[in-house]
Amino acid sequence: MTVSMNWSYPTSIRFGAGRISEIADACMVAGISKPLLITDRGLAELPMTQATLDHLYTAGLGRALFSDVDPNPNELNLAAGLKHYQQGGHDGVIAFGGGSGLDLGKLVAFMSGQQRPVWDFEDVGDWWTRADVDGIAPIVAVPTTAGTGAEVGRAGVITNSLSHEKKIIFHPRILPCQVICDPELTVSMPPAITAGTGLDAFAHCLEAYCSPHYHPMSQGIAIEGMRLVKENLPKVYQEGDDIEARGHMMSAAMMGATAFQKGLGAIHAISHPIGALYNTHHGTTNAVVMPAVVAFNRPAIEEPIRRLANYLDISGGFDGFLDFLVELNVTLNIPKNLTELGVIDPNLDALAAAALADPSGSGNPIEMTLENTRQLLEILCGRCDPG
Ligand SMILES: NC(=O)c1ccc[n+]([C@@H]2O[C@H](COP(=O)([O-])OP(=O)(O)OC[C@H]3O[C@@H](n4cnc5c(N)ncnc54)[C@H](O)[C@@H]3O)[C@@H](O)[C@H]2O)c1
Ligand SMILES: [Fe+2]
Repeated sequence: MTVSMNWSYPTSIRFGAGRISEIADACMVAGISKPLLITDRGLAELPMTQATLDHLYTAGLGRALFSDVDPNPNELNLAAGLKHYQQGGHDGVIAFGGGSGLDLGKLVAFMSGQQRPVWDFEDVGDWWTRADVDGIAPIVAVPTTAGTGAEVGRAGVITNSLSHEKKIIFHPRILPCQVICDPELTVSMPPAITAGTGLDAFAHCLEAYCSPHYHPMSQGIAIEGMRLVKENLPKVYQEGDDIEARGHMMSAAMMGATAFQKGLGAIHAISHPIGALYNTHHGTTNAVVMPAVVAFNRPAIEEPIRRLANYLDISGGFDGFLDFLVELNVTLNIPKNLTELGVIDPNLDALAAAALADPSGSGNPIEMTLENTRQLLEILCGRCDPG
């Protein structure tokens, strides 16, 4: 990919192949002289992570690493990360990874100077104003997947290891001040993670587009984000080293996260408790849930989906779009239902209640109730026919 750009929306982004070599400069611009690079265990072992630490070391910024980060990270990972950060005398974080490493890194920086427990900053009303702004350390974000868009998000997702709930921690200053989007860093993603993360980006755009709140800017970003996923995700699934397509997927991921300020919906409301309880991959879970939720929302979204299908060059209006979603899942080898995903014999009443409690559901175009959400879950488990 020859495109190399500097963007300032929604934050400062260095986009282009090879730009990870600018990591030390990004730290210096962010005001960080002793960074702690936070990532997950799997990524910590990869040569590209070691090469990033080498860039820092050569520039005199040390090579400090914390990688005790689980998929769907929890408050225990956060406490361990904070201890490491404080003992090392760091002055900022490089959040490096997929959503798990990015979120944990962002939350370590956010919590580094707070007096209250992290749960006090959940995205509820104006709870974010409880935070001491001076206690938030600067964040440089480096995505290695193309899905969550957490590199341009103002929130971090963390699982409560006791209640098994995913909580969204929000503060405007959780938005990283410097982002490096280097598509070469995503090449080593295994195909299943490429597929799941790419469909997370698509789900963000789709749910934002369908949510009923007024936000035309998000609408525009969302439909172009979906076009980029439609045209590039099958390519990168087949040819993992197609840098141009990988770059477009990174853009789509950022577009999804930018668009979902408008709202999310039942895909995420259902996926969050499943991920928290069964430790399934977030984007893959969304992908499994997506076609059934779109069918469920049909009465409220038929017209906007028809317009979307036109833009995406999909014939057949709403039905054509639904067929496209199902076929895309087949092409990308996404499990057909929750049972295939590994969610065996779940307690549907408990899952439905947890989905209703998830704040994402408030953006769904059709009101979620215990009854209709339970029915949807039955379809998703393959226990009854969607027809
Ligand atoms: N903050 C947000 O706005 C936001 C939005 C959506 C999801 N999330 C959260 O993000 C998390 C999911 O993130 P994810 O889907 O990116 O997955 P992930 O970060 O959990 O990574 C999945 C796996 O892929 C591996 N991996 C990542 N990049 C790789 C690479 N380039 N090469 C090889 N292996 C690589 C990781 O080591 C891990 O094993 C969930 O916890 C979810 O709740 C956050
Ligand atoms: Fe998501």
